[in-house]
Amino acid sequence: MSRLRIPVRPLLWWLLATLLLTPLVVLVWQLVTDPGGDQPSPPVADASEQRKRGQYLARAGNCMACHTVRGGADYAGGRGIPTPFGELFSPNITPDAETGIGRWSADDFWRAMHNGRGRNGEFLYPAFPYPNYTRVTRADSDAIHAWLRTVPAVHSPRKEHTLRFPYNQRWLLAGWRALYFRPGVYQPDPARAPDWNRGAYLVQGLGHCNACHATRNQFGATKLSGELTGGLIPMLNWYAPSLATGAEGLAQWSSRDLVALLATGVSDRGAVFGPMAEVVRESLQHLSHADIRAMADYMKSLPQVTSVMPPAAAIARPEQRDATLKLGAALYEKQCVQCHRADGRGQPPAFPPLVATGAVMTPSPVNAIRMVLNGGYPPSTSGNPRPYGMPPYGPFMSDAEVAAVVSYVRTSWGNKGAVVSAAEVARARAVPVE
Ligand code: HEC
Ligand code: HEC
Ligand code: HEC
Repeated sequence: MSRLRIPVRPLLWWLLATLLLTPLVVLVWQLVTDPGGDQPSPPVADASEQRKRGQYLARAGNCMACHTVRGGADYAGGRGIPTPFGELFSPNITPDAETGIGRWSADDFWRAMHNGRGRNGEFLYPAFPYPNYTRVTRADSDAIHAWLRTVPAVHSPRKEHTLRFPYNQRWLLAGWRALYFRPGVYQPDPARAPDWNRGAYLVQGLGHCNACHATRNQFGATKLSGELTGGLIPMLNWYAPSLATGAEGLAQWSSRDLVALLATGVSDRGAVFGPMAEVVRESLQHLSHADIRAMADYMKSLPQVTSVMPPAAAIARPEQRDATLKLGAALYEKQCVQCHRADGRGQPPAFPPLVATGAVMTPSPVNAIRMVLNGGYPPSTSGNPRPYGMPPYGPFMSDAEVAAVVSYVRTSWGNKGAVVSAAEVARARAVPVE
């Protein structure tokens, strides 16, 4: 019997060469390519008009929120951004020559916004949401740069990120970029109205809504499709509901309510809280009515996917479930009806309804649990300067009681959320209140 001879040695060499060469090719490719690098600055007719537009666009991009520490100078950086890979600190983007971006040209700035590269060509971490900002036009990038050159320069040295190995190796971002980043300015859909395109441009680009409203994979990347199907925000432990699915989604919202929510933080359908309160306070409330409307119309037109509620695994036995819901009903009657009413319809816009809202019916119950534990206020906005608040119940309700009242809310009045367990409440209690 003759043996089949496989050329093992050459094969191994070939395999080794491929394993070593592929990353090298990816790295070199990412280093030498400069998409959009040939896009010239369009002429500017009126420089002061350009700066004003830049200020507005910086609001739409919420640059200040990340690049400012509480109580610190605007845009001077230093805010910590916790990620599963360690903490990043936003750099100083005031025009200070030494520690800020005073030496950056409009071209340097464009390369950061469009292609996620620093002034020395280094790969930037996507905690800076350039996978969204790449949709921004050259004219808008130049306007933001022109505005940032006019803010007071502050000397504030960069704080080093405290990322774990291997995430602290910037060059490894070459692989990440090859897999999860596609540079490209937003291309208007000619079949749609200009307003729709404006809304899409803002939601996908400067608004970076899918930075929170999408699930991230183990490398912290969202899908390239930029979908808004919701997800748990890692580290922050808030759930950003889907803006495109069934009960959670926005199909049932009227444009009026959605516009009110984005512009003022409250509406007849619900109020914003947690990280969304900051988005409304720092960014959305400052946008024009036309832009907010365009964003709302675009979001309402997103294809609606049916969401799948995970089964209630925590409380399996029917008797236990019944006892929990009975306790929950009693607690609701005693603690919550005065504001949210017996039928869960609330007294909007002061006290939000708890019926069929994304705030209550998410696959993860973490938002409702945290609201009951810590209470909260919608943001104070020009459209709603003195918001009504919700008291915290954490200090005097046990984990089992919080679980019971949240379970009751999630399953009453036609709501189809799953029952929650005391263990889930205990986990949420461990998260510090920001
Ligand atoms: C979600 C938080 C976040 C938002 C929002 C954000 N940034 Fe940043 N930005 C960062 C972080 C973190 C870095 C550091 C990235 C790194 O070290 O690779 C950064 C880096 C930068 C840099 C590079 C600076 C340098 O010295 O390397 C520029 C320029 C910049 N951001 C501008 C902006 C602008 C303009 C906006 C608004 C349109 C904005 N950022 C919004 C978090 C943010
Ligand atoms: C920093 C993270 C973050 C960003 C960025 C963000 N959101 Fe949110 N959003 C949340 C969280 C968390 C919630 C849930 C809390 C709430 O309902 O207020 C939420 C809730 C919402 C809701 C209410 C949904 C419902 O069903 O009740 C809407 C609408 C919304 N966001 C729209 C947007 C838009 C539009 C943008 C982009 C301009 C955006 N969000 C950007 C975190 C974020
Ligand atoms: C004093 C009035 C008041 C009482 C009592 C109260 N709430 Fe609230 N509740 C509010 C307000 C105001 C908000 C909006 C807070 C925000 O947006 O930060 C809210 C928000 C919520 C939310 C998030 C829904 C949304 O759209 O913002 C849930 C869930 C909730 N409450 C459940 C409860 C439960 C359960 C109880 C009883 C244990 C309760 N509340 C008692 C006033 C109240």
